[in-house]
Amino acid sequence: MRHRERPRTFRVKSFGCQMNVYDGERMAELLAAEGITPAAEGEEAELVVLNTCHIRERAAEKVYSDIGRLLKTDGPAPMIAVAGCVAQAQGEEIMARAPGVGVVVGPQAYHRLPELIAEATQGRRATDTDMPAAAKFAALPRRRRSAPAAFLTVQEGCDKFCTYCVVPYTRGAEISRPFADLLEEAQLLVEGGAREITLLGQNVNAWTGEDASGRLVGLDGLIRRLARIDGLARIRYTTSHPNDVTEGLIAAHGEVPQLMPYLHLPVQSGSDRVLKAMNRSHTAESYLALIERFRAARPDIAVSGDFIVGFPGESEADFAATLSIVRETAYAHAFSFKYSPRPGTPAATLGDQIAAEVMDERLQRLQAAIGETQLAFNRASVGRRCTVLVERRGKKPGQWLGKSPWLQSVFFTGEASVGDLVEVELAQAGPNSLEGRVLERVAA
Ligand code: SAH
Ligand code: SF4
Ligand code: F3S
Repeated sequence: MRHRERPRTFRVKSFGCQMNVYDGERMAELLAAEGITPAAEGEEAELVVLNTCHIRERAAEKVYSDIGRLLKTDGPAPMIAVAGCVAQAQGEEIMARAPGVGVVVGPQAYHRLPELIAEATQGRRATDTDMPAAAKFAALPRRRRSAPAAFLTVQEGCDKFCTYCVVPYTRGAEISRPFADLLEEAQLLVEGGAREITLLGQNVNAWTGEDASGRLVGLDGLIRRLARIDGLARIRYTTSHPNDVTEGLIAAHGEVPQLMPYLHLPVQSGSDRVLKAMNRSHTAESYLALIERFRAARPDIAVSGDFIVGFPGESEADFAATLSIVRETAYAHAFSFKYSPRPGTPAATLGDQIAAEVMDERLQRLQAAIGETQLAFNRASVGRRCTVLVERRGKKPGQWLGKSPWLQSVFFTGEASVGDLVEVELAQAGPNSLEGRVLERVAA
């Protein structure tokens, strides 16, 4: 890498989960506080941060093709910083394979970006993949501006070690950010324009902390306190693990009006044999029993999930069990993935890996089944009146796009602006969105 000037402009590209989106925003704030400005749209940035995801093979491959593309430029090559989960898992490999990369920084060390950039500017390629327990948050600048729907990372890491998953290795052990810090950051987000906050964590419902009176509380305790912030209309959380669901969290869904009727609770498979091999420590039945308890507390709750097809050894009968849990749960939404063997995880070395064609075919059938329950959920919403939080303009003139309480995308036309809560009647349903008719604009 050539000796170069300190970069004056930057761009952060985030891949993967919402926690990476949050980290990407924080890195952007940090760089801006250092006097490096965001590159204008269409303009080439002097520093590009690739905030990467390692969850599936294709996600990781993308990093190398992105690096190649960034370096293939007529002008001076940008400084490239690789951040995120691929940086954590493959930092050394990246440095060896991609000489054009100046900085490698893991998800727990990105508060050190300014120093690492300074080193790279001196011609010394710099890596930090240390994992101090959440030291970064204290070192980040205070939050100032926020989108109407904001993210707030409350918990990081994972101790569950599902046999297919890299997250425990890339994000480290489960930790909870302190209650007071979260309250302060949430307040700043609301002052900066947020009407909705989604609390994030790889296992968000494992969050625990001491409240203002020193009492140990769980995620529901945090939610109940955040609900008292003036101007915060909506609270969500993701992603939950079935084993960390508490009675208090279920009850909060029936009692806290700001807590939206939405639950993302991945199940991965409907077969107990596969769940055991995945080390999920729940069964199909215990999962369904949990969903029933959430529905008892909040009958209209929209349930969402994640699925993996083609886990090693998955038989046609196992897969049929997955299709039945989709129908029984009647998902409002769900993500589904083909199993991807990840280096260093126990499942990658299991025998009986499933052929690609079998996975393709199962994924198609699974997505068709999810599509049916999703459309049914959207159709059942027609006629409901609800608020929509306006997030952006739609493609048609006068059209707006926002989210319903059940996290459906709702299009409507009328008077509005970004950040408004508009009262609509849901009038028409498609598989991925609904049309709403405006009833009134709720005062901010
Ligand atoms: N903590 C969450 C989600 C973690 S990653 C949970 O416990 O469910 C998001 C999703 O990616 C997972 O739910 C899983 O469905 C999928 N995933 C993780 N590892 C994968 C792998 N090796 N191959 C395919 N999908 C995977
Ligand atoms: Fe991965 Fe399992 Fe942890 Fe979720 S609970 S992050 S799937 S190891
Ligand atoms: Fe990907 Fe890391 Fe999130 S692997 S899904 S960016 S925790």
